[in-house]
Amino acid sequence: MTAAEVLYNRIRLAPVLDGFWTASTVSSERNLLRLIGWTIHPCDQPARFFLEMNRAPMSFERYSTHAALAARLNLHHCYSFAAVAPFDRLLSGPVEFRGSYAFPDPHRNAGSFFWPSGRPGLPDPARRERVHGTQEESSFDLIGCTIAEKIEQLLRYRFHKTLQELGPVLDWGCGCGRVARFLFPRLKQPHGIDIDADNIDWCRSNLAGNFQVVSLDPPTRLPSGHFDLTYGISIFTHLSALDQVRWLEELARLTAPGGYVLATVHGYTSWLLNDPGLDAYVKWEREGILDAGENSDLQGMVPDPTRYRSMFHTPAYIRRVWQDWFEVLDIIPGWAASNQDLVILKSRRPM
Ligand SMILES: C[S@@+](CC[C@H](N)C(=O)[O-])C[C@H]1O[C@@H](n2cnc3c(N)ncnc32)[C@H](O)[C@@H]1O
Repeated sequence: MTAAEVLYNRIRLAPVLDGFWTASTVSSERNLLRLIGWTIHPCDQPARFFLEMNRAPMSFERYSTHAALAARLNLHHCYSFAAVAPFDRLLSGPVEFRGSYAFPDPHRNAGSFFWPSGRPGLPDPARRERVHGTQEESSFDLIGCTIAEKIEQLLRYRFHKTLQELGPVLDWGCGCGRVARFLFPRLKQPHGIDIDADNIDWCRSNLAGNFQVVSLDPPTRLPSGHFDLTYGISIFTHLSALDQVRWLEELARLTAPGGYVLATVHGYTSWLLNDPGLDAYVKWEREGILDAGENSDLQGMVPDPTRYRSMFHTPAYIRRVWQDWFEVLDIIPGWAASNQDLVILKSRRPM
């Protein structure tokens, strides 16, 4: 094995060290809620996987080898599962799912959330597919609700702030409101912007908040130093290195003194699941950023769809390059949609 291959395997398997699980779909049937997903055991070793729903154990209807995933990742202990728990349809607030290995530890593994009742209207399939990559309904809800809950929890536990005490909040690249549907009702001054005019139309007709179509080329017409919090879920994952620099400049302009930006990127966890190969890996490690090609999801919806890319970032690149505009507080692996890393940025503007 060459040194590059050794390093590559170490990096590729890093997300597996602690084990990894993801919830794919959720459905309800009479008084039962069923969660379908998959898991990779820690260190690719035998282990027991526990799932809890609102801190009560779920039982497994099925826990079987996920042969396709195991073959693709060259691992042994990959499993798909279906788990159920009794469910009260009238439950208000989100349902939380937590997974852990070998012992039930609610703090160790990231949660996944689902909103059982009174959730906002669902955008139509074509709109959903543009931002979510599939028309599947429950995963659209599951990911949107999970990200909204995780943003709220991150603010509360890490920065001791509640959503209600924030001033203006910006959903940068809001699409058809996958996250905004769950988060905007809890905010005082929610704003959403996107380059996709049709999805902004949907948001205007269906959600409370200010929505604006923006050009792929900043600046926007939004005021300087205005936003206490901006979140951009899977936006830097689609911009060329040059466009990223322009938008970092714009986000820094828009952020209020002391304000935060939360942005997701494809890092090592996404690499494990998508694996563009050893040659691409060597280039990615060397340069810190990799353009894996055009992404066709916005064909026909924006003036130049060739500028919609599939990008990977190493954490080292983010810390080195993005610090010109923001303080890089943290990078949390696999935070969003079970694979994207979360970058937590703080404004450098003096208070
Ligand atoms: C993968 S989708 C994610 C949408 C949304 N953030 C979510 O989590 O559902 C990426 C979104 O970013 C939008 N977008 C891409 N580049 C943008 C830019 N420079 N400014 C604003 N929106 C952008 C796209 O139109 C698309 O809606």
